[in-house]
Amino acid sequence: MSAEIDPVKLMKQEVAKAAADRVKSGTIVGLGSGSTAAYAIEFLGNRLQSGQLKDIQGVPTSFQSEVLAKQYGIPLTTLDATDHIDVAIDGADEVDPQKNLIKGGGAAHTREKLVDSLATQFIVVVDSTKLVEHLGSTFLLPVEVLPMAISPVMRAIEKLGGKPELRMGVRKAGPVITDQGNMVIDVKFESIANPAELEKTLNNIPGVLENGLFVGVTDLVLVGEVKDGKPVIREF
Ligand code: A5P
Repeated sequence: MSAEIDPVKLMKQEVAKAAADRVKSGTIVGLGSGSTAAYAIEFLGNRLQSGQLKDIQGVPTSFQSEVLAKQYGIPLTTLDATDHIDVAIDGADEVDPQKNLIKGGGAAHTREKLVDSLATQFIVVVDSTKLVEHLGSTFLLPVEVLPMAISPVMRAIEKLGGKPELRMGVRKAGPVITDQGNMVIDVKFESIANPAELEKTLNNIPGVLENGLFVGVTDLVLVGEVKDGKPVIREF
């Protein structure tokens, strides 16, 4: 009996490949985080190794993407050493019809927002399960917080109508610690009527570093779907 192919994995791989294929030689590339962006980093490495792609430099959005870039032979640079990013490729947890996002499922949204919003072109790579009508309908909103500010930030979020919970580690006792040494609160909002306003309101709470709402940052969304058993890529 042939091994079952996981359709979500297949969609992630195909969409990541489609994005990696758009990267041109001689460019600076923002390297996203999460499982879909990880495939994109792998495919970029493959293109470099085959000689199809030359002279790119990556700006990682997390320890994960830094480690993967080194593993796949992608030279790295920093925001001090370069004054621009040509293209960034990153995943998302939710995408709405206006191309606004929730990110931060991997607790990397602070650096992701920095790198993705600096890119001339920000390409989001998702499988079709990530598409939603309204942000916050399937995924909690991640907020990165200074450790000493956890209690006051939680109280402020409750006053805004959110239900906050401290994200706990898996195979690590205690809370998740971000790449910057902070903690993450995941927030359930009954509805996010105005993502742009909520993004600013949350970031105005003292002690909040960044939240996972990405409003008006995305240029292109590539969606991987499986139709009649075959992966297809749709763009919007
Ligand atoms: C990392 O913090 C996130 O923003 C990821 O980009 C997001 O969670 C998507 O991850 P997957 O591609 O693994 O679904």
